Amino acid sequence: MWGLALALLCLPLGEGTLRIPLRRGRSIWEVMREKGLPEGFLNNLRGDPGRKYQLSGAVAYEPLMNYLDTFYFGEVSIGTPPQNFLVIFDTGSSNLWVPSTYCQSPACEDHTRFNHSLSSTFLGIDVTYTLRYGFGDLSVVLGYDTVTIQNIVIRNQEFGLSLYEPSRPFYYLDFDGILGMAYPGVAISGFNTLMQNMLQQNQLSEPIFSFYFSRNPTYSYGGEVILGGVDPQLYSGEVLWAPVVQELYWKISIEEFSIGYSVTSWCSQGCHGIVDTGTFLLTIPGQFMAALLQALGAEESDYGFLVDCSSVPNMPTLYFAISGAWLSLPPTVYVLENDGICTVGVESTYVPSASGQPLWILGNLFLRQYYSIFDMANNRVGFALAT
Ligand SMILES: *[C@@H]1O[C@H](CO)[C@@H](O)[C@H](O)[C@H]1NC(C)=O
Repeated sequence: MWGLALALLCLPLGEGTLRIPLRRGRSIWEVMREKGLPEGFLNNLRGDPGRKYQLSGAVAYEPLMNYLDTFYFGEVSIGTPPQNFLVIFDTGSSNLWVPSTYCQSPACEDHTRFNHSLSSTFLGIDVTYTLRYGFGDLSVVLGYDTVTIQNIVIRNQEFGLSLYEPSRPFYYLDFDGILGMAYPGVAISGFNTLMQNMLQQNQLSEPIFSFYFSRNPTYSYGGEVILGGVDPQLYSGEVLWAPVVQELYWKISIEEFSIGYSVTSWCSQGCHGIVDTGTFLLTIPGQFMAALLQALGAEESDYGFLVDCSSVPNMPTLYFAISGAWLSLPPTVYVLENDGICTVGVESTYVPSASGQPLWILGNLFLRQYYSIFDMANNRVGFALAT
C-alpha cells in the first residue's frame, strides 16, 4: 500500500520545482572560510582527509530505530525543557520540521506535537511555508529554538512547526518529522540549516556525518547516524570517495552500471546518483526500468516487482562504477523478502535530472550495503562496506 510513498519519501520534487524559493546556497566551505578558520586548516582537510582535527566539539552516536524495514528514524529534542520527536535524518532535503500544537489535523494529533508555550527558549516568527516532499505537502510556520541531539546542542535553530498535515501519508507514519541534511540551496531561503549551525556553533569534532543502516534491523535498533565522525567498527576496508557534482543534494557521478558481468552502457554519457537516506528503495532512471526487470526476470504485480524467492541465489549482482571502482549490490541486498514474497527493491526515478544525465537515487537499500560518509568540508561522499 505504501510502496510508492515509501520510494518517494523525503526527496523534494524535481530540482527547481520546490515551492520554497530556491537560493544558490553558499557552500559550507565558504561559510567556514568566512568564519576565519586558522590558515591552512582547510588545506589540511583537503590534503589529508584521514587525520583527526583539533577542533572542539563532539562526536554524537545517534541510534536509529527501524519500522517495517523501511523507515529509519532517531530522536531529537527541541526547546527548553526538551520536547522529544522521532525524525528521519534525511540527506535528500534540508529543512527541519516537527508537528506542532498549531496543527489540529488528525495526522498531528496522532503524533507528538511541539508546544511552543512550554519552551522558554522559543522565538516565533510570522513566516509560513509549504514544504513539498515526494509523498505530499505540508504547511509550516517558522520559529527558532534549541535543538539537542545526544550530546550536541544547537542554539537558535530555525525549524518548521506544522500548521497542517494531510492524513495521507502523515497520519500513517511512525515518525513525527524530518531533519534535512542536504545543502542550504534546497532549504528555505535565508535561514541556516541545522548542519550549517552545527558547524558554525562548533558542535562537531569533524565536519562530517555518517550513516549505518543495519542489514537485520529490529524495531529497537535499525542503525546509527554519527554526527562529527565515523564508527570504524561499522564498516570494513577502504573508504571510496566520490565528489559531489552539484551542491544541492548529495549528488555524485555514476560512471557505469552492470548487471552481472554484462555492462549496460546506460551511463556512457554519464549518470548522476543522489545519495538519499530519506528514500527507501533504489530508484533507477525510468527509461531503463523495463530492461532491468527483464534482465532480472521480475514481473510487475500489486506487491511490486516479483521474483521467485528460490531463484534469488542465482540472480545477478548489480554493479555501480563510482570513482573508478565497482560497488556491488548482490541479490540478497536488492531483493526484499516479506512473508515468503520476494520483490526487487527498485522504483523508477521520479525526478528528472536538471543537467540531463540519467538520475538514480541511492536510497536505504544501497546504504545498507555501504556505510556512507558525508563530508561537508570537501563536498564528497564516502562509501565503505558495511559490517
Ligand atoms: C501548550 O502549553 C500551554 C501552557 O502550558 C497550555 O496552556 C496549552 O493547553 C498547551 N497546548 C496544547 C495543545 O496542549
